[in-house]
Amino acid sequence: MKNILVTGGAGFIGCNFVRFLLRNDPGVHVTVYDKLTYAGRLENLADVESRFGARYAFVHGDICDASTVEETVGRYDIDTIVNFAAETHVDRSILDPDAFVRTDVFGTYVLLEAARKRGNLRFHQVSTDEVYGHIEGDHRSGEGDPLAPRSPYSASKASADLFVNAYHVTYGLPVTISRGANNVGPYQYPEKVVPLFITNALSSIPLPVYGDGQQMRDYQYVLDHCSAMLLIIQEGSFGEAYNVGTGREMTNLSMVEILLDELKAPRSLIQHVEDREGHDRRYSLDVGKVMALGWEPEHDPEEAIRATVRWYRDNESWWKPIRGGEFQEYYDQVYGDRKTLEVDG
Ligand code: NAD
Ligand code: DAU
Repeated sequence: MKNILVTGGAGFIGCNFVRFLLRNDPGVHVTVYDKLTYAGRLENLADVESRFGARYAFVHGDICDASTVEETVGRYDIDTIVNFAAETHVDRSILDPDAFVRTDVFGTYVLLEAARKRGNLRFHQVSTDEVYGHIEGDHRSGEGDPLAPRSPYSASKASADLFVNAYHVTYGLPVTISRGANNVGPYQYPEKVVPLFITNALSSIPLPVYGDGQQMRDYQYVLDHCSAMLLIIQEGSFGEAYNVGTGREMTNLSMVEILLDELKAPRSLIQHVEDREGHDRRYSLDVGKVMALGWEPEHDPEEAIRATVRWYRDNESWWKPIRGGEFQEYYDQVYGDRKTLEVDG
């Protein structure tokens, strides 16, 4: 791995991965390819430009645009593609699935074709635990479990996984897939629950907890996810998927209590509201396969949430401008008419 194309590198996990990669592999040149949607921001990479200028390039482009993708792969002599580019927010996929099908499915196909035409480049697909759907009882999803997505977002991501696998089986493309649990950490767009609730609380706005708040998620620290992905890219077996998470899920209400506790903000900010349509109640990953490669997370979910609170508290200049404009319109649309609920306990 020498010349690596990171699609979606101006987004939350992508920008953390780019930094992690440049710090940990001095021999690598990184080209970020990003459409700069509402979630992609050049300021997320400002320090990368100044610190790693000679080993870093940025291309403004859409992964659905085959000619620009292929031109970029040729110009930077790319040998490895890591695909983070996606529409990523479940609530937005419920409002309007179109962009999810285009970017997450068709865009992944365009990248796979570019990798195939260039002589079977190494390809890593960044996928999600949501492809397994809601998990019953005490079961933990293994990589061989059936995919059972239930939202337009997760259906798009699962479709992409199937294409990635098909390119391995049909054309011998050297692929791996990582299926990550919920990430938290610096630079996450404040539509996602943890940064939304932190920035609401810092602004004394109620925290809209969907339904009873007893849904289970594994909140992992983004840099742990990045270290797992780098290991999978370097040591993973071609054609294989790897779950990535701490393996320790908690309820959303517990996450909120940790977050309010770290902020020293009152529990009275919690407001139960009408649930998300088709809301998956529980995700739970068996992470034995990635651990067998020698990976371990450095943060448990509570530490991950607390560290994230501190970052947002210290970086108002990053999130305050975002919470105006497009974000406010979106917020009014999703939360404006949402009914509040009385929940016991
Ligand atoms: P994000 O929404 O913060 O960033 C997505 C990035 O993709 C943005 O920079 C955006 O501009 C770019 N993008 C969107 N459409 C594009 C297109 N057509 N062409 C080029 N670039 C485009 O997302 P994130 O949370 O950083 O997620 C990154 C990846 O990780 C996604 O594939 C997501 O499905 C996956 N994932 C996310 C999580 C999580 O908790 N956030 C967990 C597991 C997996
Ligand atoms: O599990 C991995 C996935 O995590 C990623 O693949 C997605 O890209 C990422 O968006 C995230 O999806 P979720 O739907 O789990 O994340 P979100 O932050 O939207 O919600 C987390 C939980 O919090 C979920 O149970 C819904 C709940 N929630 C969310 C919001 C936005 C609330 O209770 N209130 C809210 O306002």
